[in-house]
Amino acid sequence: MKKLTVVLTLVMIAAFAVSAMAVPPGKTVEFAGGDAGKVTFDGKVHSVKKCNDCHPKVFQMKKGSTKITAPHEAGKFCGTCHDGTTAFAQSEENCGKCHKK
Ligand code: HEC
Ligand code: HEC
Ligand code: HEC
Repeated sequence: MKKLTVVLTLVMIAAFAVSAMAVPPGKTVEFAGGDAGKVTFDGKVHSVKKCNDCHPKVFQMKKGSTKITAPHEAGKFCGTCHDGTTAFAQSEENCGKCHKK
């Protein structure tokens, strides 16, 4: 019984450690965004998605590890979902939805 409690506690600590590091609701990651203006990635908006929708295939779990260049390619990085189907596209009229000057 005691052993089980210890194991459960460890599992809970491990789970908490992961979520504390993530970009959960209330946390954001900021990208400089060059001339187009800075981009704020909001954990709240994206928390509907599963971690493995983005990690590790689309983004590494490390702030600042993604190098996004312009013009943005469809199907890469943010464009994996921001393709006009899953979420708004990375097209002219939507630059300002991500980039804020
Ligand atoms: C919609 C995409 C998306 C989803 C879903 C997502 N993340 Fe992330 N995550 C990102 C991006 C983008 C970054 C920043 C990457 C960069 O700056 O290169 C990031 C960064 C991180 C980091 C590094 C934070 C830091 O301060 O260095 C961790 C840890 C992380 N995510 C864990 C998670 C976990 C755990 C989940 C599931 C609960 C999750 N992420 C869901 C996109 C996502
Ligand atoms: C796994 C899919 C996925 C990825 C990858 C993804 N997004 Fe999103 N994003 C969504 C969905 C779904 C929405 C909500 C639907 C919509 O607004 O079209 C959304 C909405 C947004 C919004 C609108 C927030 C609001 O207040 O309306 C912004 C800004 C945004 N994403 C930025 C980003 C940036 C920046 C990246 C890359 C670092 C990114 N997203 C990567 C799925 C994704
Ligand atoms: C889904 C969100 C999103 C949309 C929509 C979007 N961008 Fe970006 N853009 C980003 C992210 C994230 C970065 C990476 C910023 C960084 O790493 O500093 C970026 C970077 C850039 C950069 C800097 C690239 C470099 O090589 O330094 C430019 C310029 C740019 N975007 C222009 C645009 C233009 C123009 C549009 C509209 C046609 C657009 N972006 C639409 C998310 C978006």
